[in-house]
Amino acid sequence: MSKLCIIGTGYVGLVTGTCFAEVGHQVICVDNNAEKVRMLREGGIPIYEPGLEEMIPRNVAAGRLSFTDSIAEGVQGSDIVFIAVPTPPQPDGSVDLSFIEGVAREIAGCMTAYKIIVDKSTVPVKTGEKVAETIKRYNRSKVDFDVVSNPEFLREGFAVEDLMHPDRVVVGVTSPRPVKAMQEVYEPFGAPIIVTDINSAELIKHAANSFLALKISYANALSVLCEATGANVVEVANGMGLDKRIGRQFLNAGIGFGGSCFPKDLSAFIKIAEQLGFDFRLLKEVQTINSAQMDRFVRKISDTLWVLKDKRLGVLGLAFKQNTDDVRMSPAIDLCQRLLKEGAVLRVYDPKAMDKAKAILPPGDRITYVDAMEDVAEGCDALVVATEWPDFAKLDLERLREQLSHPIVFDGRNIFDKQEMERLGFLYKSVGR
Ligand code: UDX
Repeated sequence: MSKLCIIGTGYVGLVTGTCFAEVGHQVICVDNNAEKVRMLREGGIPIYEPGLEEMIPRNVAAGRLSFTDSIAEGVQGSDIVFIAVPTPPQPDGSVDLSFIEGVAREIAGCMTAYKIIVDKSTVPVKTGEKVAETIKRYNRSKVDFDVVSNPEFLREGFAVEDLMHPDRVVVGVTSPRPVKAMQEVYEPFGAPIIVTDINSAELIKHAANSFLALKISYANALSVLCEATGANVVEVANGMGLDKRIGRQFLNAGIGFGGSCFPKDLSAFIKIAEQLGFDFRLLKEVQTINSAQMDRFVRKISDTLWVLKDKRLGVLGLAFKQNTDDVRMSPAIDLCQRLLKEGAVLRVYDPKAMDKAKAILPPGDRITYVDAMEDVAEGCDALVVATEWPDFAKLDLERLREQLSHPIVFDGRNIFDKQEMERLGFLYKSVGR
């Protein structure tokens, strides 16, 4: 059992801390937002993430998981301190490291014995060196410490599963001293642990996410060729994906990737490369293909409906992907905004993300939030699918056909069976099929 402190109770920090407690470690989660800490202490959970709702109370009750707004309390009560604070993008695409720097200073100021300080947030290569310099500078008691890089690879919506059953754990170090303690933390998860230098560990994170984004853009580029030739991008992806060297995952064409990771990490990696003297044009093209994919989908809608002004459109999905309430950089929100700009009137539904979406797209004359997916298309000129929630594929299609004033469906996520839709008499437009 290790004594761990997690600083930052966002998506990454809260799930990581909870899963550490679940396998038996003693965990203190710290957040500077006192209101959030109060909510967590009272049993509330600030985010939606499957599994968390049961795990948090169970571990709190077992005395393995607690919450505080004091970094000093967290640091002094533990041996290993994980930093899991935001690293938001700046206007030029580079990463804002001020939260990391601030937390590093605070940790340094309250250390009274040897600590391992682990960076879990996604940071540019060479940040570990800066963190170590900062801690050394503000380390009043002059105690020993080690800095470790331990990037997260969690998918939102599957974060608990990804944490409990990781493909691999990456641990970047500058000395052998913290290795054993880090292995003890991760041993219960039974995954391969890759121990490497800090710079490599930091690079692994950006390299892996950019590669996944590249796969999606590759599939999206193929979807254009499929549409031009009558081929089917799903068949092409299946045929490619069975090659073990390629793999089927992340080859789903759609309206482009979004979320709080891929767009940000891609921009950051391009910027990091630029600062290191390399023009990573391959990744710039990944971005270009991604935004063109959305342009093409909007054009597909406007080409079919001709004038969008005052057309009523039902929209299924607001989250940036299935299984999450997160709408940050959501392609679905972007799509709604573009349709509204063209003058369309929207009826929208999402199983989890409606509250968060309302903050960006306030309900009003031009946009109505609907309580059930079955009602979203009522009286609409067409239905648009924007997020790949599995439930959407269970929609009663005959009823849908009756609800629409014209049976037109634009499926941005390829969730419906094309032949079935055509057999039922829909004018059905999906992506690359
Ligand atoms: C991602 C990485 O998967 C994770 O390892 C990293 O730590 C954080 O970033 P996440 O952003 O939660 O996780 O979502 P992910 O499931 O990877 O999807 C990202 C976006 O790509 C979504 O908008 C999704 O809809 C889109 N996507 C994904 C596709 O368009 N096609 C695909 O084949 C896969």
